[in-house]
Amino acid sequence: MSSTGSDQQLVEEARVAFNAASDPASLENAKARFLGKSGLITEQLKMLGGLEPELKKREGARINVLKSQVESLLNERREALAQQQLAAKLAQDRLDISLPGRGMARGSLHPVMTTWQRIESIFRSMGFDVADGPEVETDWTNFTALNNPENHPARSMQDTFYLDLRDTDGLPLLLRTHTSPMQVRYARSHKPPLRVIAPGRTYRVDSDATHSPMFHQVEGLWLGEQVSFADLKGLYYEFLCAFFETKDLDIRFRPSFFPFTEPSAEVDMRFATGPLKGRWLEISGAGQVHPKVIQNFGFDPQEVIGFAFGSGLERLTMLRYGIDDLRLFFENDLRFLRQFA
Ligand code: DAH
Repeated sequence: MSSTGSDQQLVEEARVAFNAASDPASLENAKARFLGKSGLITEQLKMLGGLEPELKKREGARINVLKSQVESLLNERREALAQQQLAAKLAQDRLDISLPGRGMARGSLHPVMTTWQRIESIFRSMGFDVADGPEVETDWTNFTALNNPENHPARSMQDTFYLDLRDTDGLPLLLRTHTSPMQVRYARSHKPPLRVIAPGRTYRVDSDATHSPMFHQVEGLWLGEQVSFADLKGLYYEFLCAFFETKDLDIRFRPSFFPFTEPSAEVDMRFATGPLKGRWLEISGAGQVHPKVIQNFGFDPQEVIGFAFGSGLERLTMLRYGIDDLRLFFENDLRFLRQFA
């Protein structure tokens, strides 16, 4: 029977064999050589049966020591392999949390839309309602009700996109050339005193560096018993100060003509400081609403007076951001648009 010396050798052999196994399956094979059904240690145990009781006891104890030594080497190696496997799996499945996400890029508002929203919130804070209306208008609302004479050049085919359609009353239809028809729509469905702005898209047959066939305006209307031109000046100045976030600007009302206002004015402003200092720029038409238009609203011009204005949103946006070409707004060049994100 084996001595303790060769037991040491066997344990060494097992250690080498177990360590050589690089995965659980080959480790189980290596185990079979020592502890399997006909493994080296199992064979020794099988022989115990034929021994004297004394010897059997001693040999049994020795083989048990041997067996438990080999078993504990096996378990160590099992443990080590399991750790290795886990480490490999963790390394493979590793989440790199420093990588930027693949989410959708965030969009942003077009600068003209930002202007639109700012104007709404400024006028809301001054007690104005905000109204929205159709871009396809009737000839009556866009022109006639606003006191535009039959032969006024604004009505011509050169200025206006007419549709080959008529409304249910047989009235000619067109793309509104300004937001002023919203004065008519709003006034005819509300009672004075009333204060409203109506921002929106407008259309004209016009296209160059400072004109686009589609552009945006905001209409304003304030009607009451005593709404004067002085109120218009004060309100419009307050609006501009809020919009440009400065009191450092001058404003002037230049006499002008619009069929729907009397007197009429063009509103110019200039910055008192900054890169645009000194240049007057036209930003709006305005005036006291013409008595005939008040009548078309359905009110008595002896009782109801007020003012209106119509300003260009592109113009205001260009001034606010120092943009010099209107076409930039419509080219959808992301290099331009991203600057406002
Ligand atoms: N509708 C005019 C335009 O498009 C602008 C305008 C002028 C609007 C005077 C008004 C106003 O409300 O009172 O040129």
